[in-house]
Amino acid sequence: MMTTPLSTDAGVTVTVHDGVARVVFDLPGASVNTLSVARVRALDALFAELQRDVSVRAVVLLSAKKDSFIAGADIDDFVQATSIAELSAISRDGQGALDRLADGRLPVIAAIHGVCLGGGLEAVLACHWRIGTDHPKTTFALPEVQLGIVPGGGGTQRLPRLIGLTPALDMILIGKTVRAKKALQLGLIDELVHPAILERVAMGRAREFAAGTRTRSRSTGHGDAKSFLLEENPIGRALVFRQAREKTLEKTKGHYPAPLAALECVQAGYADGVAAGLAAESRQFGILGAGDVSQQLVSIFFAQTALKKDTGLPDGERAAPLPVRKLGILGAGFMGAGIASVAAPAGTLVRVKDTDWTRLARGFGAVRGVLRERLKRKQVTRQQFDDLMSRVSGSTDYAGFADCDLVIEAVFEDLAVKQQVVRELEAAAPRAIIASNTSTIPITHIAQAAAHPERVIGMHFFSPVHKLPLLEVIVHEGTSAETIATAVAYGRELGKTVIVVRDGAGFYVNRILSPYINEAGHLLDAGARIEEIDRALVDFGFPVGPITLIDEVGIDIAGKSGPIMAEAFGARLQPSPVLSRVVQSGRTGRKGQRGFYRYDSAGKKGAADDTIYGMTAHGTSARVSLPAEQIVDRTVLPMLNEAVRCLEDGIIRSPRDGDIGAVFGIGFPPFRGGPFRMIDALGATTVVERLRALDAQFPGRYTPAPLLVAHATERVPFHASHTADAGRARQGS
Ligand code: NAI
Repeated sequence: MMTTPLSTDAGVTVTVHDGVARVVFDLPGASVNTLSVARVRALDALFAELQRDVSVRAVVLLSAKKDSFIAGADIDDFVQATSIAELSAISRDGQGALDRLADGRLPVIAAIHGVCLGGGLEAVLACHWRIGTDHPKTTFALPEVQLGIVPGGGGTQRLPRLIGLTPALDMILIGKTVRAKKALQLGLIDELVHPAILERVAMGRAREFAAGTRTRSRSTGHGDAKSFLLEENPIGRALVFRQAREKTLEKTKGHYPAPLAALECVQAGYADGVAAGLAAESRQFGILGAGDVSQQLVSIFFAQTALKKDTGLPDGERAAPLPVRKLGILGAGFMGAGIASVAAPAGTLVRVKDTDWTRLARGFGAVRGVLRERLKRKQVTRQQFDDLMSRVSGSTDYAGFADCDLVIEAVFEDLAVKQQVVRELEAAAPRAIIASNTSTIPITHIAQAAAHPERVIGMHFFSPVHKLPLLEVIVHEGTSAETIATAVAYGRELGKTVIVVRDGAGFYVNRILSPYINEAGHLLDAGARIEEIDRALVDFGFPVGPITLIDEVGIDIAGKSGPIMAEAFGARLQPSPVLSRVVQSGRTGRKGQRGFYRYDSAGKKGAADDTIYGMTAHGTSARVSLPAEQIVDRTVLPMLNEAVRCLEDGIIRSPRDGDIGAVFGIGFPPFRGGPFRMIDALGATTVVERLRALDAQFPGRYTPAPLLVAHATERVPFHASHTADAGRARQGS
């Protein structure tokens, strides 16, 4: 018997055939399926109806979306609910619906192809048989902690009982993604099949369940835990929990409450039963969701979503991006090789030129190293690895450049060399857009050498290119709309978060870094200890402190930008005396095994090098101990101030871009949202007052930006709210 298809409010279509209900999730008007509060209720009602219908004996749950099963909960509901009580209620509703699904009469078979995330995975965990496709797009994760919350639909209870405590904690506390094959090994899914037969196999299983020839063999998260060696007894579990707690604290440094809260939920479930675990989960979901950290992380998520849809063009301008099938790279050095290693996996043919074969070979070695890492992590097969390597070729002349769509130059940081290669490229690659990866030279100057300056642009990658997610696209006065659109679209194809900035010394990221680094130097000159400065800023939330950062970037490289910034902006961005002296000393940082810190021959960082103190204005006399807040104020406040100046000067287009550039470009603490979000949280008035106090002590270095003063006077924040960018994301501006 076959019933007519029934479409529901939940975005699913139901057909019943031979006792099997085929439930297909296909949210209208959306590229992925998400679970909103209303949809969960509608699905709950639908399943209640199916449970009552005696003609139905099993259910198959499918998605009609391409490469996506369920992408998670609908974040709009989450941001609209602002109180702890509302958020906890959302979680309790979800838990209730999934409990009814798990405990119901009907066996439910989840047929999963594509991403299965967050609430989507929690729904799947409540099903009775899980089949995943053997496809790279089929992945499982609970990414809630990345938004500062805990899973709210029973995930903290069902997952450990299904796959064991240790792998479950990896997923719950870090948001680790699991691929289909691994999911099978873990027992997260029961079967792995080719996408072409997913539905057929799922329907077959459903018929077996309906006929009673197959029974629910695995846990559905109600306490019937399998044996997991160490974790099966309370003592072993206590050990796992303790280690997880220590590891989490070490990683979060106390700045991110969600992973610890999630751990407590899992622990509560084992100590006092699943009901207690679920209660803890919904309580924490509410508390964390209404908290500051989650709001900042959500704001970053929205800003990123908005940027994914941003063409990068000024308001009202339109231009279609040109396809980039072949990319030319000039310079197989550190950056050139890095760019090649992300371009090949994006499907681009890559042609690299350097001045000699030795350098080219070294560059290829670097590309192979990055791609081999993918192979090691099983992100690509051996065959795919070979294919990726075969996409990259090179030469010491311009052979193979004629049909390049885009050429990125990453040659030495020298204006004359850059201008020379632009001239050469216009002849060798006549239709290519020419992008410069310069970190300090104004694009305007490079473009002066071009017959077609409209095709010249900056594409500033950060090192290591395969790890750092930001790309600054730099536009000079004459860059055409088509060139901008192409650079932005291609940067996104490379997996980068792209911000478009106007040309100017330091662009955005290096400009706001400049006062931060300089002031760290001034603190050294004033007698502070190297480790003390770094520790204060790591405690503030940066991944490394400013002094370590100089060693990492290279003292020689950092040293080049100092004078350029001072020339452009005067006394405000004058490098500190100690920085200039250390640059002159010839130390290069980690790569030369000698910097502000000592390094062993393997490049491992040791203690600070005390001999540096002899180069400070304070001299070798006893160091002075400064309170951490003072160190933070003196380095971070001028960075915030400079970010506002960049907005004022039109270098960045919006506070949103400024926040994203800082978070993704220099690791500005994500839980603080970015410089503009931090100013909003402190209040512009407070920031202005503190800057003025410092300016009185150190005239000229801390003068508040006029725009910051205006925000303080009018008491208006830079962002309307933490969801302000959501509207933009939806409109796709
Ligand atoms: P690098 O010194 O490692 O590599 C430069 C390469 O360019 C060398 O292999 C050199 O032989 C080659 N080269 C020089 N002239 C050439 C020409 N006419 N044709 C072809 N190849 C030529 O330098 P790195 O670090 O890769 O920097 C390259 C560019 O990227 C610079 O403009 C730098 O400012 C910028 N940059 C560097 C970052 C870093 O962290 N190293 C970060 C962001 C940008």
